[in-house]
Amino acid sequence: MLSNKLSASRWIHELMKDLDTEIACVRLGNVHVIAVSSPTIACEFLKKKDDVFVSRPISMSSYLISGGYLTTVLVPMGEQWSKMRKMISKDLLSPIKHRWLHAKRMEEADNLVRYVYSQCTTTHNGSNNNNNDEGGFVNLRIAAQHFCGNVIRKIIFNKRYFGEGGKDGGPGYEEIEHMNALFTLLKYLYAFSVCDYIPWLRGLDLDGHQKKLKDAMKIINKYHDSIVEGRIKQWKEGKKTEAEDLLDVMISLKHPNNNSLLTSEEIKAQITELMLATVDNPSNAAEWVLAEMLNQPQLLQKATEEVDRVVGNGRMVQESDIPKLNYIKACAREAFRLHPVAPFNVPHVSLSDAVVSNHFIPKGSQVLLSRQQLGRNPKVWKDEPHVFKPERHLKDDGCDVYLSEPDLKFLSFSVGKRGCPGLVLGSTITVMLLARLIHGFSWSTPPDRTKVELVESETDLLLAHPLVAIAKPRLPREVYLFD
Ligand code: HEM
Repeated sequence: MLSNKLSASRWIHELMKDLDTEIACVRLGNVHVIAVSSPTIACEFLKKKDDVFVSRPISMSSYLISGGYLTTVLVPMGEQWSKMRKMISKDLLSPIKHRWLHAKRMEEADNLVRYVYSQCTTTHNGSNNNNNDEGGFVNLRIAAQHFCGNVIRKIIFNKRYFGEGGKDGGPGYEEIEHMNALFTLLKYLYAFSVCDYIPWLRGLDLDGHQKKLKDAMKIINKYHDSIVEGRIKQWKEGKKTEAEDLLDVMISLKHPNNNSLLTSEEIKAQITELMLATVDNPSNAAEWVLAEMLNQPQLLQKATEEVDRVVGNGRMVQESDIPKLNYIKACAREAFRLHPVAPFNVPHVSLSDAVVSNHFIPKGSQVLLSRQQLGRNPKVWKDEPHVFKPERHLKDDGCDVYLSEPDLKFLSFSVGKRGCPGLVLGSTITVMLLARLIHGFSWSTPPDRTKVELVESETDLLLAHPLVAIAKPRLPREVYLFD
């Protein structure tokens, strides 16, 4: 029995290798599942036949997480998807809103540096070590995941912490619980659960996924619901009249008939989905980049030289620097290529019969683009596909590097009608996270190690062990003193 995403993906990938094919069909119950590892075929699905392969599967996990299909990412093609997709693109993630939220993102970029700085300058017994001779241990998974969580909480709820938070800028108990619940949802979302393929098993929860998802949703709702409900009340009572964050924006959107565009249930479900969409890709990419760089210090040096050249040592990296940080962006692209956070893209479902790459694909098939195999396809990535080499993404003409990959030679933000509307925000978070870590600190392996073990976890594609490294501040002390 296929118990989770990873064992199912391993099985499908093995099958494709044995059959020496870039497109394979397996039947799970009544469903045809089509796995793809060729960019040309992937483009046929998501560009040429985008109108056909535009839906999403019905599954126990997506139903629970989306509040009964009230959201965007997880919702099958139809009116609800159209309404929410339009709302997200136009009202939440538009260029104007992105600029409006700039100060909130910067607050969190500063907090990231404050947190890491405090980790390196606090000795084991808790006293302050401002000489910074030895540096200090930093758990990069915690720093990266909580930076992403802080950014999305700040732009949606206008707050970093649900409770007191950590004194050093780090997460408090509540944020740790919240983040763990988000990652639990991500782990079981579209995990191959038998009940999705054998309908009469529904409700039995044989693999225990349903309970895990429900428990995680309870935690998320515990934190979100009171904030959303309280805010709706404030607007109703006229105590709030001006939008300060995306929750306010969602509450104040109007339908042409002047009623609210979104119900409280839609707002709650959409917020959870936006949080899920934000936290995993950037944090996983940053952790893998730093891990790869610790093993290849010449890459870290190149990236450090770039930020020093572009930013200097008198201030922190700003968003306006991002266009010039091409090497850092090449590193992020290389992490998306070689170390995607999930084995497959979000599944696409066909609305009618179709022929793709000379194969007949029946209506209702689920198409899984393999993030792992697209990025490592030796026909596409001829130069040592398994080696982390950011240089492969630099343009000969020195043109700007972007994190999107429209030819699907690896999968970052995908393309087409279901392509990611969070491209700008997601790219900004990823590059800012990496650039601030590299510019603000020098990094080395702990004294008892010379190399990082670059092994994926048994249960997901994150590093098997959270990356812990030694950080030392590398800029003048006053640059770290934020207001
Ligand atoms: C580095 C960061 C990110 C990456 C790599 C990424 C990647 C993706 C991918 C691969 C998809 C699925 C595309 C498909 O079905 O073919 C997707 C969908 C989506 N993403 Fe992102 N994403 C990122 C950040 C964000 C952020 C920050 C948001 C919003 C806050 C966001 C919102 C969405 C939404 C709403 C969809 C669903 C689109 C639909 O089904 O219509 N993403 N993203």
